[in-house]
Amino acid sequence: MSSEMSPIDRAKYAAAVKAVDYVQDGMKVGLGTGSTAFWMIKRLAERVRDEGLRVTGVPTSSRTAALAREEGIALTTLDEAGWLDLTIDGADEVDGDLNLIKGGGAALLHEKIVATASDRMIVIADAAKQVAALGSFPLPVEVIPFGWQTTQKLVEELLEGMDVLGREVQVRQMGGMKLLTDQKNHILDLHLKHIGNPRQLAMVLNQIPGVVENGLFVDICDVLILGQADGRVTVR
Ligand code: 5RP
Repeated sequence: MSSEMSPIDRAKYAAAVKAVDYVQDGMKVGLGTGSTAFWMIKRLAERVRDEGLRVTGVPTSSRTAALAREEGIALTTLDEAGWLDLTIDGADEVDGDLNLIKGGGAALLHEKIVATASDRMIVIADAAKQVAALGSFPLPVEVIPFGWQTTQKLVEELLEGMDVLGREVQVRQMGGMKLLTDQKNHILDLHLKHIGNPRQLAMVLNQIPGVVENGLFVDICDVLILGQADGRVTVR
């Protein structure tokens, strides 16, 4: 860890280091996406180099794959691996029941598939990501480009009947264009402010034609590691 790191990065780093302690020799590990997962991959690579730890990683995004390759972590595909021992990933929000909002980095589809195909998902985050109720962070929903505006209208209509406080929906832009995920889909960001029933919302969103997946992770996270800038971590 460098003394140049910002307090938030120190918190993320602390959580990442603790999570990598869970990785054992020979494990197949899902590698998350984002700035917290970045530190996890750096630390995992350190253990591979220094301790000769043998791991096979399944990356959840092209960005993560590039970083892991650069760091010398052996990679495979989920289909090759079949099932994973562990996935370590970040989150945008975590509630008291370990429900998550993910997808701030637009990788929610692969992240959910990989985490679901793992014996255990460990979520790493700085302590500020913990919330009483999900929804302050806009909920990402991945939709296919075909008819995406119709899909957006259907999502908006659905929200009328849901236990949420905000209902604004925006297609995510990047560099003046609609963002494309690794699967060449778009992301709708749902500004809900408060999600009363994450389980129900997660299920009904996925019933809309055109919706591929949503960023609500319910009953997927097993362990939460929150880091603080002074290096302390709490594990739940
Ligand atoms: C990417 C994600 C990330 O895990 C989430 O956005 C948290 O990112 P960060 O660690 O950079 O705060 O879901 O799709």
